[in-house]
Amino acid sequence: MEQEVRAILVGCGGMSHAWLSAAREIPNLRIVGLVDLKEEAAQRRAAEFGLADALIDTDLEAVLRRATPDVVFDCTVPEAHAPVTLQALAHGCHVLGEKPMADSLENARAMVAAAEAAGRIYAVIQNRRYDARIRRLRHFLQSGRLGQLTTFTSDFFIGAHFGGFRDRMEHVLLLDMAIHTFDAARFLTGADPVAVTCVEWNPPGSWYDHDAAAVATFEMTGGIVYSYRGSWCAEGLNTSWESDWRVIGTRGSVRWDGQELFQAEEVIGQEGFLRERRAVEIPEHDPGEKVGGHAGLLREFIRCVQSGETPETNCTDNIKSLAMVFGAIESARQGRRVVIEV
Ligand SMILES: NC(=O)c1ccc[n+]([C@@H]2O[C@H](COP(=O)([O-])OP(=O)(O)OC[C@H]3O[C@@H](n4cnc5c(N)ncnc54)[C@H](O)[C@@H]3O)[C@@H](O)[C@H]2O)c1
Repeated sequence: MEQEVRAILVGCGGMSHAWLSAAREIPNLRIVGLVDLKEEAAQRRAAEFGLADALIDTDLEAVLRRATPDVVFDCTVPEAHAPVTLQALAHGCHVLGEKPMADSLENARAMVAAAEAAGRIYAVIQNRRYDARIRRLRHFLQSGRLGQLTTFTSDFFIGAHFGGFRDRMEHVLLLDMAIHTFDAARFLTGADPVAVTCVEWNPPGSWYDHDAAAVATFEMTGGIVYSYRGSWCAEGLNTSWESDWRVIGTRGSVRWDGQELFQAEEVIGQEGFLRERRAVEIPEHDPGEKVGGHAGLLREFIRCVQSGETPETNCTDNIKSLAMVFGAIESARQGRRVVIEV
């Protein structure tokens, strides 16, 4: 039987419900504390999830001392991710935190360094990777059927009326949403970002205070080019939240609408203006445990805490997706191509 893992959760807002729901399905995981700047938010979650024995406080330091957890779950707002993670690591805890990793690349680098110095895991929730459909696409891409993969595109167009903090947030699309899409691009390409050229804008009629639309072209390792088009204030003909993808290889192309639609074609002709093509079946793929969004990530993280393995979305990997976000923001600000450095 695996050892019990004692966890505290910090930030008892909207997302914490998904975390606590996932956590209660994991054997040998015990929530021993709930922290929020607003005590009533923590009290409410404790009542909802029957956590009568959990310590409730507004002061993370006090709970770290009194509850001596093995693990800290960080569901706070992006600006708090760095201080909460650094404090948890200083107490020898492993940390699983919400995306985006940090509010700046400098803070993210400090978090990676602190996790390495402490010899603890710090991993980030990129729940959209833990989806059987994107795993199926990646498995197909890796099969080599389309030859060498050269070009990736994703379209993300949703008219999202949040009505909360996002309506006031700077770089809302790139920081709050595109982190998922850029991480998916790294996942699908298997490549890392080299440079980016980006335009960010707020379309007329936008209900956001700041830029809610962007187009970005990323040069990736291996000569791959990934182009992103996105908007959170696009009314009509919405794409899925996973984006609409097209991948081009030397022998064919594949499309995925982010949901159930997969289409692929390979070239079989040798001559003519347009070469003869035929449809390709995209095989089903068993993703194993890497499904279920938040629940899948939580399961993997706890298993890694128990076994000493490294989770897929470890900070050392995730910082590369974050660097795409900050590279795109910087390129848009400067109006030029920016080299991406992690
Ligand atoms: N992975 C996803 O699909 C997904 C979806 C939505 C939100 N998120 C992320 O989840 C995080 C939280 O988002 P949310 O929608 O729950 O926000 P929220 O505003 O509903 O909740 C955040 C909570 O954290 C608390 N808090 C803030 N700073 C704190 C601190 N220093 N110490 C303790 N508590 C603190 C706030 O009081 C609030 O209750 C964000 O990083 C967001 O980007 C992820």
